[in-house]
Amino acid sequence: MKAVGVFNYGAPEALEVADVPLPEAEAGHIRVRVHAAAVNPSDVLLRMGFTDAWLSESLTRPYRPGMDAAGVVDAIGPDTDTDLKVGDRVMAMVVPIDPSGGAYAQYIVLDARQVVRAPANATFAEAATLPMNGLTARRALDMLNVAPGDWIAVTGAAGAVGGYAVQLAKADGLHVVADAAPADEELVRSLGADRIVARGPGIAQRIRDVLPEGVNAVVDAAVMGAQAVPAIRAGGEIAVVRSESEAGIEPLGDLGDVTVREVFVPEYRYAGDKLDGLRVLAEKGQLSLRVADEMPGERAAEAHRRLEAGGVRGRLVLTF
Ligand SMILES: NC(=O)c1ccc[n+]([C@@H]2O[C@H](COP(=O)([O-])OP(=O)(O)OC[C@H]3O[C@@H](n4cnc5c(N)ncnc54)[C@H](OP(=O)(O)O)[C@@H]3O)[C@@H](O)[C@H]2O)c1
Repeated sequence: MKAVGVFNYGAPEALEVADVPLPEAEAGHIRVRVHAAAVNPSDVLLRMGFTDAWLSESLTRPYRPGMDAAGVVDAIGPDTDTDLKVGDRVMAMVVPIDPSGGAYAQYIVLDARQVVRAPANATFAEAATLPMNGLTARRALDMLNVAPGDWIAVTGAAGAVGGYAVQLAKADGLHVVADAAPADEELVRSLGADRIVARGPGIAQRIRDVLPEGVNAVVDAAVMGAQAVPAIRAGGEIAVVRSESEAGIEPLGDLGDVTVREVFVPEYRYAGDKLDGLRVLAEKGQLSLRVADEMPGERAAEAHRRLEAGGVRGRLVLTF
């Protein structure tokens, strides 16, 4: 089968098309014929080698990025507990450091708990934008000690994690203040944000200007870090999506009595109930599945370049 990955870590051009063996669906596993794989910031980290230390020992080159897959059930392993049948349209969050490898491939074998039905009204590309980023936003909100009626702030609200965080927070009954560049204001409002403040430096003061008591919590999808903390009221929380141990991530500094929640979405890799909950919300129109562009897997390098340049709204999706 055809797959896209890196033999040697590096720039986008390091991504190559390769012929690799078709994986077998073992017990408890499902083989998916992947039709769409979204391109996420984490794919860039794998391509550059930042996840090398965590790769499963069973993986061989080329190492494949890709944390989102949508496609069709192709085979079901023996003794597999699933309601799915061969031919069903499905989606999954893929963890590329796991023995499955990443989603940039024509076929992938996943633990059956990772695979759920795709939203009935979605194309494969649309469905591929949901699992990993939807689960990241879900995980962030689940980690925060917030209740309906509380206020949260979302940074990076025009992005994939931030956008889903706004929509899931609204579905949870929270009030949301979100950041936006002028060009993104309409988009962020359409996601349901109750208040919008200009993005960038000084964001905490702008949040305090509209909410003098501050917010109960922040979902920091733009990785604003210490700049966002003063927006949080005493005893509040911040969900961070990048760890201080990563290169280029600034320490959060003095947090007062604000608690940090570190979001690591692979912890939801087997949370099929959570992923299916996202499917239901997408079918109801409460989650927007935003595709920036679709292109064949052979053009993965171009997709990575576009993602790294910033400003992409909706996900770039590779087709296989
Ligand atoms: N911990 C985990 O498990 C986990 C899981 C998923 C994602 N993540 C991380 O979460 C972050 C967001 O991912 P994503 O897929 O949502 O990215 P994305 O779609 O690119 O969204 C990020 C958004 O933040 C904006 N932004 C960037 N820098 C900003 C700044 N200084 N001030 C205000 N806004 C800024 C971006 O705007 P521009 O496009 O204009 O730059 C974009 O709208 C990434 O760092 C990703 O690696 C972590």
